[in-house]
Amino acid sequence: MKTEILSAAESSFAIETACEFFKKGETVALPSETVYGLAANAFDAKAVARIFEAKERPLSDPLIVHIADPESLSQVAVGGLPDFLKKLTRSFWPGPLTLVLPRHPDLPDLVTAGQETVAVRCPAHPVFRRVLRACRFPLAAPSANRFGRISPTRATDVFAELQGRIPLILDGGACERGLESTIVLPIQVGGDAKKFALQILRPGPVTAEELADFAPIFIPEKTTAAPVTPGSLASHYAPRTPLHLLSEGEPPASWKCRGLIAWDEKTSAAQDYVATEYLSRGLDLHEAATNLYYAMRSLDQLQLDGICVEPLPETGIGRAIMDRLRRASFHG
Ligand code: TXA
Ligand code: MG
Repeated sequence: MKTEILSAAESSFAIETACEFFKKGETVALPSETVYGLAANAFDAKAVARIFEAKERPLSDPLIVHIADPESLSQVAVGGLPDFLKKLTRSFWPGPLTLVLPRHPDLPDLVTAGQETVAVRCPAHPVFRRVLRACRFPLAAPSANRFGRISPTRATDVFAELQGRIPLILDGGACERGLESTIVLPIQVGGDAKKFALQILRPGPVTAEELADFAPIFIPEKTTAAPVTPGSLASHYAPRTPLHLLSEGEPPASWKCRGLIAWDEKTSAAQDYVATEYLSRGLDLHEAATNLYYAMRSLDQLQLDGICVEPLPETGIGRAIMDRLRRASFHG
């Protein structure tokens, strides 16, 4: 299959072409404000199956469903939203927040991996929004990478991952946030129908500090059976080259040819490495998040023995960055 890349910046041709593919049951990769997604009509089980096939994703890993606006939520989830979630969606939708809610029975089992819940978000990227409005059905879309790999933040990254496996990529430039959405599960507290807490299933651009304004943050004990969220597997989001966090001691001595992902120009020892990528020259965590996956991808192409990473402060979006770095460096 030939994979075409169409610039979506100004042309409605790209948006219309994407919709035609979706109506034919095809998949299309498109930009969101977080990372690029590989999308299909969420109500077309055969099309959704193609997403799993292209990504080599296990069928046990459910997808996020994207809606054009909060009013479309009832197409994919049932039961409405309690007041605190209405406030939460008013603050963060459209945007990088995914809610896990009771699923609509019409959604194919493949989308939810047979679970009774569905993960939903309303993306903010103008290209994604235009596509959703034009095609008029929700789009199921995981990140547009092969399973377990680094999420793509540019159209060329999607091409490198899925070339020959999908017909079309809409190019909307580099993703502004650069990290996948925050996933939260609302839970009832103490059997009280009006008391809720939020469990963060995946940290992301909407931070725990921001969420705490809406409900208490629930942190499960280690023994609690967590919902199936393979994005929370210990090893994930990984480059091919081994990654080592410098907060965990010296890198293996056998690594002669090393790359470095540095947090800031001033704090690093770049002369000890053959190549260095700086996440933020001005110690800005948001800028670091935007640049992280691109830095990992760039160094991954250099045939290095290993990539060392300087740790970042774990506040705000720094938590999501360190979460992804730990998973990328996990080899156990
Ligand atoms: O920013 C994002 O969230 C991007 C863009 C494209 O929207 N999407 C994304 O999708 O990161 P994906 O499939 O790579 O990650 C979705 C995560 C997976 O770890 C999946 O297990 C989890 O969401 N998930 C999906 N449905 C769920 C559910 N019902 N309960 C718990 N976790 C769920
Ligand atoms: Mg993913």
